[in-house]
Amino acid sequence: QWKMQAFIDNTIADIRAKVGNKRVICGLSGGVDSSVCAALLVKAIGAQVACIYVDNGLMREGETELVKHTFRDWFKADLHAVDAGELFLSALAGVTDPQEKRKIIGKVFIDVFKQEAKSIPDAHFLAQGTLYPDVIESGGSVDGPAATIKLHHNVGGLPAELGFELIEPLRDLFKDEVRRLGIELGLPEDVVWRHPFPGPGLAVRCLGEVSEPKLATLRKADTIFLEELRKAGWYRKTSQAFAVLLPVQSVGVMGDGRTYENTICLRCVQTDDFMTADWSRLPEDLLARVATAIINRVKGINRVVYDISSKPPATIEWE
Ligand code: XMP
Repeated sequence: QWKMQAFIDNTIADIRAKVGNKRVICGLSGGVDSSVCAALLVKAIGAQVACIYVDNGLMREGETELVKHTFRDWFKADLHAVDAGELFLSALAGVTDPQEKRKIIGKVFIDVFKQEAKSIPDAHFLAQGTLYPDVIESGGSVDGPAATIKLHHNVGGLPAELGFELIEPLRDLFKDEVRRLGIELGLPEDVVWRHPFPGPGLAVRCLGEVSEPKLATLRKADTIFLEELRKAGWYRKTSQAFAVLLPVQSVGVMGDGRTYENTICLRCVQTDDFMTADWSRLPEDLLARVATAIINRVKGINRVVYDISSKPPATIEWE
């Protein structure tokens, strides 16, 4: 506790000394690292930091609202939330290849971020929530562990390209320390304990071509899964949990009728470093409740399956 307060005081003093009266841009993704980084900067320099959050339309239910509420209403931060969902979706139209989807999302993200950064006059610094493990892995993602098999797009290339000087106030910390720091800074538990979420968001969990109706279906199923997981006290016991919308239709029966609808796959893993992972042995009754709730409440879904593959040879995400 005392050590954390000393870290906060020292880091705030360092940030103030480095920044002077110049402006800072902080990229906010909604993840733990960038949220803690932003909160620390707001504490240190208030309105001198402008936070940019790009809503790519591929976020989970309630995610964008939570970011806005936390930073705008609670921290009184200068939050630039860019509503770019349509831009991302139109760029993704007709695209089915996973790497291609990532590339497009990465490119549109950089374009949107750059455009918004231009609207912030005299910005000199760019703040990033890089942690110690990201530093030693180098090339690691800003808000999640690196996975070399999949392309990762984060704000990594941005500072040089835009001529910003970089600030990385969390670069000596490990994840558990970042969480403690977040709590100390007054971030909500929901933010501090959040599972990692990939940059390309729900696009890589909506297999094949992404569309608004598919995203809406996936979002509903994903929300039910996470709600049940939280209620049962399993969210914090697992490293990552989510729903995937499979492009597979199967026959079902409802009342007197036959259905032919899509499948939701539930994925839940335990891991220390995200390089290897084991599937979570969730209680059977929890899985049963989730499956029933999804099939009853999500239109277009008549079957739910649970992924029991470990990494390797499978990866955590399906794309
Ligand atoms: P995989 O699927 O490779 O995932 O086992 C390992 C971890 O990385 C996350 N992930 C990503 N994070 N951009 C990110 O920022 C991406 O493109 C990406 N792909 C996977 C994944 O959620 C898991 O935590």
